[in-house]
Amino acid sequence: MTEPREPTEQWTPERYERFQTERERPANDLYALLAPVPGGRAVDLGCGTGALTARLADITGAADVVGIDSSAAMLGAARAHARPGVRFEAGDLAIWGDRTDPVDVVAANASLQWVPDHVDVLTRWTAALRAGGQLAVQVPSNADHASHLVAAEVAGEARFAEAFAAAGGPPPDPVAVNVLKPEVYAELLWDLGYADQAVRLQVYGPVLPSTAGVVDWMAGTSLTRFERLLDEGVYAGFVDRYRDRLVEVLGDRQPYYFAFKRILLWGRRPA
Ligand SMILES: C[S@@+](CC[C@H](N)C(=O)[O-])C[C@H]1O[C@@H](n2cnc3c(N)ncnc32)[C@H](O)[C@@H]1O
Repeated sequence: MTEPREPTEQWTPERYERFQTERERPANDLYALLAPVPGGRAVDLGCGTGALTARLADITGAADVVGIDSSAAMLGAARAHARPGVRFEAGDLAIWGDRTDPVDVVAANASLQWVPDHVDVLTRWTAALRAGGQLAVQVPSNADHASHLVAAEVAGEARFAEAFAAAGGPPPDPVAVNVLKPEVYAELLWDLGYADQAVRLQVYGPVLPSTAGVVDWMAGTSLTRFERLLDEGVYAGFVDRYRDRLVEVLGDRQPYYFAFKRILLWGRRPA
């Protein structure tokens, strides 16, 4: 296994799992696209807290399923799901596939967006699939939603801009920078030999108690890239300002329907 790169995000399993039911819906839809691979091998790249890795084993019937993640905290939580046929390893999904025995399924739910160069990465993942193997990937596609736009706006405000400048600048939004359009993924899958494929954009609507609930959702994922650069106190101020601006922009709704676009891709290599 290739050594993972230094993790770029601070993940907190408890915070991420706060919306477990809502976050699992797209994963369930993704897994529903998979044909069973009884006795086969599968890999779950960016496995997070591991529950979906175990479910991947249940759904596909694969006998050997490996969850791979670069976050020690997430892997620590994931190991609770280890059992015969389900194991977890540290690794970097951006470079995974170079040196691996062929697998029947490569799955990645809500993780590919954290790395750039999806053409290269998906090409590498495809090369790791045996004939007839399946690729199943889900990425958010909501960089144009206020939840992301307001974070960027607040990061640009003078008091925070200074703190970010001192820390090397606010990080780019990986969803905006890395995620391609659905039709581009479909063309890419075609170019990679997936004549049998399904690519779709779907709006998921987690219902949050209020507009401010978006902050709790984002704190478990996208805001981690701001959090890791700021002192605790400055980050707390950033979050307060983010919450206020979000409520101004989106209105104070109770409950709040969070229209969240995601792309699901599935393809099967020729047998
Ligand atoms: C939003 S979570 C998704 C976790 C899980 N797949 C799920 O759907 O519940 C993204 C995960 O990707 C992992 N990740 C981010 N960049 C990675 C990389 N370069 N290599 C491996 N894992 C990475 C993070 O540590 C995190 O656990």
